[in-house]
Order: sequence, then C-alpha cells, then structure tokens
Amino acid sequence: MGILEKNFINIEDEILHLKREKNAIILAHYYQDEDIQDIADFVGDSLDLSKKAEKNDADVIVFCGVKFMAEVAKILSPSKKVILPDINAGCSLEESCQVKDFKKFKRNYPNHKVVTYINCSADIKAESDIIVTSSNAEKIINSIPEDEKIIFAPDKHLGNYLVKKTKRDMVLWDGSCIVHITFSERELIKLRVRNDDAKIIAHPECPEDILKHADFIGSTSSLLKFVNQDSSQKFIVATEPHIIHQMKKLEPNKEYLIAPGVDGNCSCSNCPFMELNTMEKLRDCLKNLSPEILIENELILRAKKSLNTMLKLS
Ligand code: 13P
Ligand code: SF4
Repeated sequence: MGILEKNFINIEDEILHLKREKNAIILAHYYQDEDIQDIADFVGDSLDLSKKAEKNDADVIVFCGVKFMAEVAKILSPSKKVILPDINAGCSLEESCQVKDFKKFKRNYPNHKVVTYINCSADIKAESDIIVTSSNAEKIINSIPEDEKIIFAPDKHLGNYLVKKTKRDMVLWDGSCIVHITFSERELIKLRVRNDDAKIIAHPECPEDILKHADFIGSTSSLLKFVNQDSSQKFIVATEPHIIHQMKKLEPNKEYLIAPGVDGNCSCSNCPFMELNTMEKLRDCLKNLSPEILIENELILRAKKSLNTMLKLS
C-alpha cells in the first residue's frame, strides 16, 4: 500500500513510517522544538552531529538544525542524500561572513592560520585551515604553535572568550549570533538576586557582559553535562532555551530559568532559524526527499580539508 493511502494515528507515526521506508536517519540539534528532538535518532551539539553524520548506515540524512550543519553532513558524507526540513534555516553568524569579504579580510593578514567556527558556509570552510566548534575550539587553538598568527571568524564573542582562555592574540571577524546577544546583563543580575541559589550557565557565543557572571561556560553538550554533574538544584540558562528539554530529561527534579532579555521575560532567545523547522516540514521533506543539500564536488573536497583537520584534532 502507498504511504498516502495509509491511515496514520499521528504525524509522529507517519514520520517514523517514512523514515523506515527511505532508510533515513534523523539528526537534531538541541535547539530544535521538543517534538523534533523526541523523534530524532540522535540529538547533539555541532561536533557530535558532525561525527554522527560521518558514521551511519542510512541512505538519507534528515538534518533538523540549520543549513550550515546540514552542509557539514553533506561534506562529510557526500554519497548520502542530505535533506533539511526548511532550506531557509540559516544562521546570523553564517550570514555575517560572505566569501568575497572574507577573502579580502584574509589578504589583510597574510601568513595567519585561518581558524573558523563551524557556524559558516561551505565556501568559508573551503577558505579556512581549521574548523572548530565551541566544544573543541580551546583545545585546537592551544595545539597551534605559539609563533603562528591566527585569524578567528566569524563570532567575535566566542573569539574574545577564546583569546582570554588561550592567551592567543587572534584577529577577529566582526560577527555575532542574534540569539546570544539578546540577553540583558541588568535583567540577569536582577534574576540572580531573586534566585541566589541558582548557577548561571552560558554558551560562549554570549557577549562578555553576560559571560563574566557565568559559573560555567561551554558548548550545548557541556552545559548539559554540567547540569547533570553539578550539585546545584537551580540553573539560569544563557543559551537557546530549547536545550532545557534535554536538561529536564537528564535532571527532572532540578529547576531551569531562562536568562532574560531586555524586557525581563521575552522569548527573544529562541533561534528564529531553528524554529523554521517543524514536524510538518520534517514529514514533507522525508516524503519528497527535498529540500536537498547540494554542493559541488570541488567545493566538497576543499571544505572537507579544514573539517577533517578539526576531526583529527578533536
Ligand atoms: P553547539 O556546538 O554548542 O551546539 O553550538 C551551536 C550553535 O549554533 C550555538 O548557537
Ligand atoms: Fe546561528 Fe545563533 Fe541560531 Fe546558533 S543560535 S544557529 S549561532 S543564529
């Protein structure tokens, strides 16, 4: 019987049926809606998702995240079909760094090692020496000989944080994440005063005025690990709040407060790009095997080098 003739109990049932039919794997980032996280085969941070995209037996990778993440899956698994529920799921960091401008920027700093955050396009990866994620950036930068000069792009806040941590004087590209710059220092202090038993945990894409109040700073997966291992019962979470879904699964009896924006309680820290993916679009993309991520072979080969260097050093 064709799938359109079948009666499904609900959309989850339909997605699972299509997934089996197409021999697909669903990969999801922690910032996706709860229902997408729950139906995924694997939920992770950028680094874990890259590794999972490289090693799996599926014919089709459905990437529930943003476009640069799906591109990484295609670059690392070029023989597989990689689809993304909404092709417009971009990223403000990726947008801030266009290849024409980046090439010009690089020309101003010859003889610099080009270290680039994974939140960038395949074109930028092809122009980079090493890709990093927030979970391996410090280790990878520390592995670069001290006499080598470094350009870091595109996130200036993560860059500043890494300059402090590694004591390396890096040249920074002027980009930022529209989600992590929305937190308000003033409101965060007010929330902490009202909850003096809470620990502040933050993603390093936050600006310095937020990071300086944090008890712990790390990638999405290390924030989760911290919540799991720390003895505190309450956390103020300064990153995209959909990650709290996994925190509640890991530690259901702990309390999680979303770090506030300027008006004290907006939901402006939701990533508008991640939110473009919905269960309906996930079903439709599995049904149609589209929108598909297509990258020219030559670009795949050039972008793969910097990604492979990262995977080797991680
Ligand atoms: P992670 O690698 O920590 O999951 O971060 C990805 C991201 O886009 C954060 O905004
Ligand atoms: Fe990009 Fe920020 Fe969204 Fe992450 S949270 S995908 S960095 S816009």
